[in-house]
Amino acid sequence: MTVTQAPAQPRIRISAPQLGPDVENLVLSVLRSGHLAQGPMVERFEALCTAMAGTAHAVALANGTVALDAALAVLDIGPGQEVITSPFTFAATINAILRTGASVRFADIRDDFTIDPASVSALIGPATTAIMPVHLYGLPCDMSPIMSLAASHGLAMVEDAAQAHAASVDGRPAGSFGLGCFSFYATKNVTSGEGGCVTTDDSMLAERLRAMRNQGMRSRYDYAMIGQNWRMTDVAAAIAIPQMEHLDDITRARQDNAAVLTSLLHTNPSVTTPSVPAGRRHAWHQYTVLLEHGIDRDRVATSMSSDGIDTGVYYPGLVWDHDAYRHHPSVHRDHTPVARDCILRCLSLPVHPGLSGHDLQRVAESLERALLVA
Ligand SMILES: Cc1ncc(COP(=O)(O)O)c(C=O)c1O
Repeated sequence: MTVTQAPAQPRIRISAPQLGPDVENLVLSVLRSGHLAQGPMVERFEALCTAMAGTAHAVALANGTVALDAALAVLDIGPGQEVITSPFTFAATINAILRTGASVRFADIRDDFTIDPASVSALIGPATTAIMPVHLYGLPCDMSPIMSLAASHGLAMVEDAAQAHAASVDGRPAGSFGLGCFSFYATKNVTSGEGGCVTTDDSMLAERLRAMRNQGMRSRYDYAMIGQNWRMTDVAAAIAIPQMEHLDDITRARQDNAAVLTSLLHTNPSVTTPSVPAGRRHAWHQYTVLLEHGIDRDRVATSMSSDGIDTGVYYPGLVWDHDAYRHHPSVHRDHTPVARDCILRCLSLPVHPGLSGHDLQRVAESLERALLVA
C-alpha cells in the first residue's frame, strides 16, 4: 500500500523582500548605464525619501548605522555629553552613540515597546544633549511630549527610524521631528540590500551631511571637513526606488496583515497582541506579541518552526546587557523594568506583504497550538 503524504506547505519566513520585474528592470538599466556609484538613481531615491518623511532634504547613505553616525556627527555630539535612548533596540543605536564618545542613558519603554516620555524626562540633566527615540517595530514614539521636552531643555532630536518607513504621529511622518535616520537593510519594509538615509528640514545640516558622506568635499576637491565615504550606490538606489514608489501599498498590506493577525489572536489569554495608540500610524516592520508570564518562548518558537513558520525575538536582551557595553564607562545601566519584562516575553510573527490569508491563518493556528504545550 502506498501512503500519499500531503505536500509540505512552503515555509513562512519572518521577512521576504518583494522584488518584482520593475526592480529588475531598473537595476539592469543601471548596470547597462555603466554608472554604478552614487549618481542620478541616488538623487531619485532621495526625492522619494523626502516625500516619505515630509522633509525638505534627504541624504542617502550606505546603511542605517552610518545614518545614525552621520546625524550625531553633524550635530557635533561628543565626549562630555549624554544621549537618551531606549534600552529596547538594536545594537546600532548604542554603537553609534558610543562611537561619538558621548554617554548613553536609557529611558524605560511603555508596553507598546516605545520610549516612555516620563522616563525620558526623569533622565534629563546638565549633560543631556540629544534624545534618540527608536520607532521600534515601525511604531513611532509618542513624539508630542518628547518634542516638548526637547524644546524646553534645548535638546537635539535624532530619530532612529530604521524600522519606521511611512509611520506617522498625528499625520506627521517619522523622520520629520529632527534628524530622521532610516535603514534600507534587506529585511526592512523597503530595502536596497544595504542602505540608509538621513531626513531633515535643516538646509545647513543637509549640506554638511552631503559633504561628510563624500570625504568632506563641498565641491570637487574642495574639502570642508574630515569626511567619510558613506555613499550609497546607484545599484542600491535602483533596488529601492520601485518599492518607494509603492510605499503606501506596502504599508497598507502590512497594516492589513497585522489586523488579520490581531483578529485571530486577540482573544487568546496567553498572548497580548500589539496595540496602536490613537493618532499613530504603525508601519508594522514587525508584528510582536507578548507571551504571558511563565510561557516558554523557546518552546513556542521551536514548535512554530516545526510547523514551517519562522518567528523572531527582537531583542533577546537589553541593548546594554552584553559584554561590549555592560561595564563600558559611558553606559549607564538605568533601571528600566518594563523593557526588562518585554525582552523576556516578546515574540515577532511574520507580517510581511508576501503573506496570503491562508498563511496568516497558519501563523495564528500554529501559535495557538504551540501555546497549548509551552
Ligand atoms: C532600530 C535599528 N537601528 C539601526 C539599524 C541599523 O541599520 P543598518 O542595518 O541599515 O545599518 C537597524 C537595522 O538593522 C535597526 O533595526
